[in-house]
Amino acid sequence: MIQQAARDFAQNELKPGVIERDEHQKFPAEQVKKLGELGFLGMMVSEKYNGSGLDALSYVLVMEELSKIDASASVVVSVNNSLVCYGLESYGSEFQKEKYLKPLASGEKIGAFCLSEPEAGSDATSQQTTAEDKGDYYLLNGTKNWITNGSTASTYLVIAQTDRALKHRGINAFIVEKGMEGFTIGPKENKMGIRGSDTHSLMFNDVKVPKENRIGEDGFGFKFAMKTLEGGRIGIAAQALGIAAGAYELALEYSKQRKSFGKAISEHQAIAFKLADMATTIEAARLLVYKAAWLKDQGLPYTLAGSMAKLYASKVAMDVTVEAVQIHGGYGFVKEYHVERLMRDAKITQIYEGTTEIQKMVISREILK
Ligand code: CAA
Repeated sequence: MIQQAARDFAQNELKPGVIERDEHQKFPAEQVKKLGELGFLGMMVSEKYNGSGLDALSYVLVMEELSKIDASASVVVSVNNSLVCYGLESYGSEFQKEKYLKPLASGEKIGAFCLSEPEAGSDATSQQTTAEDKGDYYLLNGTKNWITNGSTASTYLVIAQTDRALKHRGINAFIVEKGMEGFTIGPKENKMGIRGSDTHSLMFNDVKVPKENRIGEDGFGFKFAMKTLEGGRIGIAAQALGIAAGAYELALEYSKQRKSFGKAISEHQAIAFKLADMATTIEAARLLVYKAAWLKDQGLPYTLAGSMAKLYASKVAMDVTVEAVQIHGGYGFVKEYHVERLMRDAKITQIYEGTTEIQKMVISREILK
């Protein structure tokens, strides 16, 4: 039922206008509002905090279906669910859950997760943003880069260094509200893909963050980031899977209709074998993604499975979308056939929430430890 609801939503609400939103870098504001009404922005949050009380498997089904059509909308779902709501529900105080989680889980507000910096993307322990303990508040200074939902969010989870000497153990996570004095939002990035999603730099200049907005014990920030990203990677893996599956479905359909040399191109082995490879790798990616989500639902370790799912599904997304464009020939190169957008969108899945190289680091550490 959940999968069908997401599929219908993608067809009826996301598909019309997706090309224009991509072209004009327009945030899918109306669609995100409706996603909130459907309960898709706080899917795994308990009903006590206005969430839908569903599991990670339901969440990846939704991510997959939405991403078949519009990865710019699904990234909002991903960040809000995996990085913001999950982080707050798992590690936030009761005060933080009441004040911040509830409106985020219902979709009344949108959240952003702010770890990356100009000089600290993959090397996440090298945080330059500082939060100085001033007694009843922290003074936040620094710049964050590549922040999804950068201007549309109201609640920002910001990772900052509180004690440089302690390295990663001197990092904390803070809840920062839009409108706090000294907090400014930079211009929107002009991106190759997921162009409807609003990606910004954020500047913090002597922002006073109340002490009660620190998440967890003092020094918990790096672990907080790692734990939330671990779940986030499953969501992005599902996004990559959806992009691949969306491009494959379009290519399959097109190949049955388009004729060359007297028959449908799907009847030429050159195309049929491409479809066979696409279908097989997508199915393998799907099983990895579902397995990672299932492990999470069982309360079992999922670091390895999540990173494997993201590593593989993002490669499949890239490979399959390139082939989908190829199958479409010249039509694949123009916007109205959708596959060129999916190809551009696929690339980010190999970059954000830990690059391909980071997933290989995590996987190799897990299998060697
Ligand atoms: N869970 C809990 N703790 C973890 C952990 C995990 N999965 N991974 C590491 N840690 C802990 C370690 O135990 C260690 O703590 P102790 O010393 O206290 O035991 C500490 O974190 C440091 O670990 P490492 O020495 O392994 O750290 P490292 O510097 O070698 O880095 C890394 C590890 C995996 C490369 C990590 O830095 C990483 O994941 N980098 C990628 C970050 C990333 O994904 N950035 C982009 C995210 S945000 C984004 O894309 C924007 C957006 O809008 C969504």
